[in-house]
Amino acid sequence: MRGRLGRECLYVPSCRLGLYVALRHWCPPGGRVLMSPVNDDVILFVVLAAGLRPVMAPLDPLDASIDVAAVPESVWSGLSAVLTTNLYGNPDPAPELAARCRASGIPLLEDAAHAIGSTVGGRPVGTYGDAAVFSLSKHTGAGTGGFLAVRDAGLRTELAGARDALLHPVRAGAELAHAVRPYAEAAVRGLRLVRAARAGLRLLGKEERAGIRMPLRPGELRTALAGAPGLDPFHSWVRVDLHDYRLTPGRARLRRTRRLLGRLGATLAAHRTGTEKLLASRWAAPGAPVRPLFRVPLLVADRDAAVAALARARVTTGYLYDPPLDDYAGEPFVDPSPAPGPARWFARHALPADPLRADLVLEVLRASGTRPAPPRGG
Ligand SMILES: Cc1ncc(COP(=O)(O)O)c(C=O)c1O
Repeated sequence: MRGRLGRECLYVPSCRLGLYVALRHWCPPGGRVLMSPVNDDVILFVVLAAGLRPVMAPLDPLDASIDVAAVPESVWSGLSAVLTTNLYGNPDPAPELAARCRASGIPLLEDAAHAIGSTVGGRPVGTYGDAAVFSLSKHTGAGTGGFLAVRDAGLRTELAGARDALLHPVRAGAELAHAVRPYAEAAVRGLRLVRAARAGLRLLGKEERAGIRMPLRPGELRTALAGAPGLDPFHSWVRVDLHDYRLTPGRARLRRTRRLLGRLGATLAAHRTGTEKLLASRWAAPGAPVRPLFRVPLLVADRDAAVAALARARVTTGYLYDPPLDDYAGEPFVDPSPAPGPARWFARHALPADPLRADLVLEVLRASGTRPAPPRGG
């Protein structure tokens, strides 16, 4: 990854832990961070855990990238940092954001979890900010790991120390679970038991997300905020979907991750091919450039009906981020966007389609009569 990005890279057990390390390093507690409201809720809790106030950015309704021109001057003057999202691999306008951050004397931090193969302004996403964090759970499919890429290679030792201080010791049980998980999931899929497995988890009270967003638990969150900055008070929110997020990796886990990362070129090529097919369909935003996207945000009139039609064909739709984080968390916990309409529209209509299953997704959408999203305001 150092070769791909031309930047010093540091392994982290998850992107979320890398983001926490970066936010703690670059932002003073009590600071304010401009970020996208169409994002994984886990990231909201990472920002809160770092002792920072999330400030919701206005977005472009077609790809949920930050609309730089719509950020009011009054918002810029109070910021400590900007955190990009690069949703599904569509880049935020990093050249403009980097220039604006430089002018304001604040760091740009790039969440490149979805954007390992994307470029913007002729450079890879993750090479504009003071730091960028990637997830190896996404394109590479490792289900673990990530890395922090930094502009100043001289910070490596200090950041590695900050990371190590947050790690929990390697656990044999967790390593075994990680090793067998792909086989267990394949068996459940093979036996067509996905729905039954989910119902079982619900019965056991082990399902962390009954809906798209995890329960916010505002009373407990207020108590946790009194303990910020710190990961421990926020552990129950930050660990959702990845309980091993701060676990020291064992050797087998690293070996498997290295093997999957070694295939990155072929993986990205497959994502690009599928993206091209999906973008050629009637549900794609017009004129969207072809990239090796992690997911392709098709824009459909009735998102929930499309998700249900795909589920009947055993295609699970993940990475939905509806409602936007300002509607989810509210003013006690975030500064709302000055222009929430475009984010709401995108969150309601975006259907994140897996490019590796492009043919089946398109067949299901055609057969189910899925209609494209109406024009905004329609
Ligand atoms: C936009 C975004 N950033 C960061 C993360 C966290 O990545 P990880 O699961 O590696 O911690 C996710 C996880 O889905 C994500 O969607």
